[in-house]
Amino acid sequence: LCTEFPRVGESSLTQSNCRAKGGAPGFKVAVLGAAGGIGQSLSLLMKINPLVSVLHLYDVVNTPGVTADISHMDTGAVVRGFLGQAQLEHALTGMDLVIIPAGVPRKPGMTRDDLFKINAGIVRTLCEGIAKCCPHAIVNLISNPVNSTVPIAAEVFKKAGVYDPKRLLGVTTLDVVRANTFVAEVLGVDPREVNVPVVGGHAGVTILPLLSQVKPPSSFTAEEISYLTDRIQNGGTEVVEAKAGAGSATLSMAYAAAKFADACLRGLRGDAGIVECSFVASQVTELPFFATRVRLGRGGAEEIFPLGPLNEYERAGLEKAKKELAGSIDKGVSFIRN
Ligand code: NAD
Ligand code: LMR
Repeated sequence: LCTEFPRVGESSLTQSNCRAKGGAPGFKVAVLGAAGGIGQSLSLLMKINPLVSVLHLYDVVNTPGVTADISHMDTGAVVRGFLGQAQLEHALTGMDLVIIPAGVPRKPGMTRDDLFKINAGIVRTLCEGIAKCCPHAIVNLISNPVNSTVPIAAEVFKKAGVYDPKRLLGVTTLDVVRANTFVAEVLGVDPREVNVPVVGGHAGVTILPLLSQVKPPSSFTAEEISYLTDRIQNGGTEVVEAKAGAGSATLSMAYAAAKFADACLRGLRGDAGIVECSFVASQVTELPFFATRVRLGRGGAEEIFPLGPLNEYERAGLEKAKKELAGSIDKGVSFIRN
């Protein structure tokens, strides 16, 4: 038997023509918002991840088609589709990792905070489902504004009595991916050789690249620092403007989300030394949430690394970042508490 019961968009195999599967070892992963711009490419990338044995695709529209399509890929993960709120609980039950790219994207002229009105409610509903059906899953939250949606998720989990701060991770990998790319361009090297820590949050001045800590150690002129910081902080807007009303980053984001999810799965498997930047509950600053490098393990973000030595330019950037972040975090917390 392929499945316990038929699900929307599942492969058309039935008990009569499907032999029992051996049950490939691996993790169960759900993508919420799987039919969207990020969701489709991300689902494809998770289907080719050998650490994934079961892949649940949930959205409020179009999951039958996306699921049928992805389920034909000859990789190990079994794919199941779920459509609409009535199927959310089935989509979430038993999941080890839940990735959330559900919600509306920006258009030119908008800030990420302009998305709060719609996305805050979407994230609340999805997190209520997680609290009920897979409270021990690792959650990768992509929906914007991340600086507020992560605090929203934390409050939902607290209310339900299931909050484990180590398991709730805001996805800021795209900032690191962009920083690696832009810094490599300036240095004239392969981006795969570069690692730039990006801390703070995920919007404008809260995105703080630590160019003094680039690996391999590199020095930049004041002009290069100003150019790189500005480009990294406004990378999202660069894509929004280029897409001219057709949405925001989806392909580079799916790549970044898949990279981060893979790191989380390797951590869950018990691999040593998995370190990524993420927006998490934190005591690194006076703020309750902050993005820094974290070590991923079986429990999620098991260790949160300090900022390390900052130069004067970065210290000034940190103050600006904290000021804006404080307001965004409060806004998310108040959305659930009040
Ligand atoms: P999109 O509009 O292409 O896709 C969003 C999907 O979410 C749609 O398929 C929609 O049906 C679905 N959706 C809406 N309400 C839902 C609900 N209640 N339950 C489940 N699914 C629901 O948008 P996109 O380009 O994929 O972007 C999605 C989100 O990701 C946006 O908020 C965007 O700002 C954010 N984003 C974040 C980052 C980051 O670095 N964290 C990067 C890029 C985009
Ligand atoms: C990004 O950084 O690309 C995303 O946060 C989407 C956006 O609105 O810029």
